[in-house]
Amino acid sequence: MVKARAARPGTGAKRPELIDKFGRRVDYIRLSVTDRCDFRCVYCMTEEMRFLPRAEVLTLEELHSIAQAFTELGVRRIRLTGGEPLVRSNVMHLIGQLGKLPGLDELLLTTNGNQLGQYAGPLRAAGVNRVNISLDSLDAGRFRRISRVGGLERVLAGIDAAIAAGFDRLRINSVIMRGYNDDEVLPLVEYALARDIDIAFIEEMPLGEASDHDRVETTCSNAWVREQIESRYPLLDSTVRTAGPSRYAQVVGRKSRIGFISPVTHNFCADCNRVRVTVEGRLLLCLGNEHSVDLRAVLRDPARDFDDLKAAITAAMDLKPERHYFYDRDHPQPVRLMNMTGG
Ligand code: 5AD
Ligand code: SF4
Repeated sequence: MVKARAARPGTGAKRPELIDKFGRRVDYIRLSVTDRCDFRCVYCMTEEMRFLPRAEVLTLEELHSIAQAFTELGVRRIRLTGGEPLVRSNVMHLIGQLGKLPGLDELLLTTNGNQLGQYAGPLRAAGVNRVNISLDSLDAGRFRRISRVGGLERVLAGIDAAIAAGFDRLRINSVIMRGYNDDEVLPLVEYALARDIDIAFIEEMPLGEASDHDRVETTCSNAWVREQIESRYPLLDSTVRTAGPSRYAQVVGRKSRIGFISPVTHNFCADCNRVRVTVEGRLLLCLGNEHSVDLRAVLRDPARDFDDLKAAITAAMDLKPERHYFYDRDHPQPVRLMNMTGG
C-alpha cells in the first residue's frame, strides 16, 4: 500500500503580504530600468534632458535583487518602465531572469513601441505577459511634434509585431492634450477596435514642468474624452474591476476594452495597490508625493544583506501617503518628471 506522503513543512503557509497603514495591499510594482529614452515626449521630458551618470543607476543585478525581494514579500505583478525600458543595454537578460521568478504571476512592460519590431517576439518568449504601448497620434507630423523625435510608421510596425507575438493583452496608452491631438480620440479608439486591442486614455499629470506648453491649457478631462467616444459608440461600464487606477468600459459587441485613467479629475488613491522603484533605486510610495526610501543605499552597503533589503521594503509601507493632491495649492506639487518617476 502506498503511504500518503506527509505535507511538506511550510506548504499552506500564508504568503507574506505588504500592507500599508491604510490597509491597502501592495502586490504590484513598477520598476524603472532606465531614465533614458529614444523619444522626448512633450508631457514627459524637456527637450534638453540630462540623464543620470551610470554610477547612479541600478545595475541589472541590483534590479533583479529588488524584484526578487518584492516577490518574496508577496508582489505578484511587476511592470518594467523607464524612460524607455528597451533602450537599456542587456535588458533582455534581466527580463529573461524576471520571467523565471517564483511567485510572479505577471511580467508587464510599458514601451513607446519604437523597438518592438525587433523585440516583440523575444519579449514574449522571455515570459512577458502584457505590453502597454504609448500612441498619441495617428498623424505622422503630429506624432513627431508630440514625441519630438519619434517616427509614427516605425511604432505602428512595432505594434503589428506585438500583435503577431501573441501577448495575453496589448494596450495602447494615449494622452489627449488640447491643441495637440484632441481631435484624435475617435481615430485612436477605432485603431484599437480594428485590432481587438485595448486602449487607455491617461490624463496628463503635472509631473515636473512641461517646457512646450502650460498644462492647465492642454489637460483634457477623461469625462470629455468619454463624451467624444460616446458620440459614436455607446459604452458599457465593465463590471470587471482590475486592481488599480484604470476604469474600463466596453463598446457593445467588441473585444477591446477602453480604459480611463483619471489621476487629475478623479482620485483613485483608496484602491492604490502599487509602488514604484526609480532607476536610482528610490522606492517611491506614491506618484504624486515625494515619500521614498533609498533601496540603493541598502543594496550597496556591504554591511547589509538581502534580508535587510526586504526589511527596508516592509518598513517603507508605513510611509505610503493616503493620496495625491494634483493641482491643489495647499499641497506641494511633484518636481520629478515622468521619466524619473517610472512611467
Ligand atoms: N501625464 C500623463 N501621462 C504621462 N505619461 C508620461 N508622462 C505623463 C504625464 N505627465 C505616459 C506615457 C506612457 C505612460 C507610461 O505614461 O504616455 O504611456
Ligand atoms: Fe520616452 Fe515614454 Fe517619456 Fe515619451 S513618455 S519621452 S516615450 S519615456
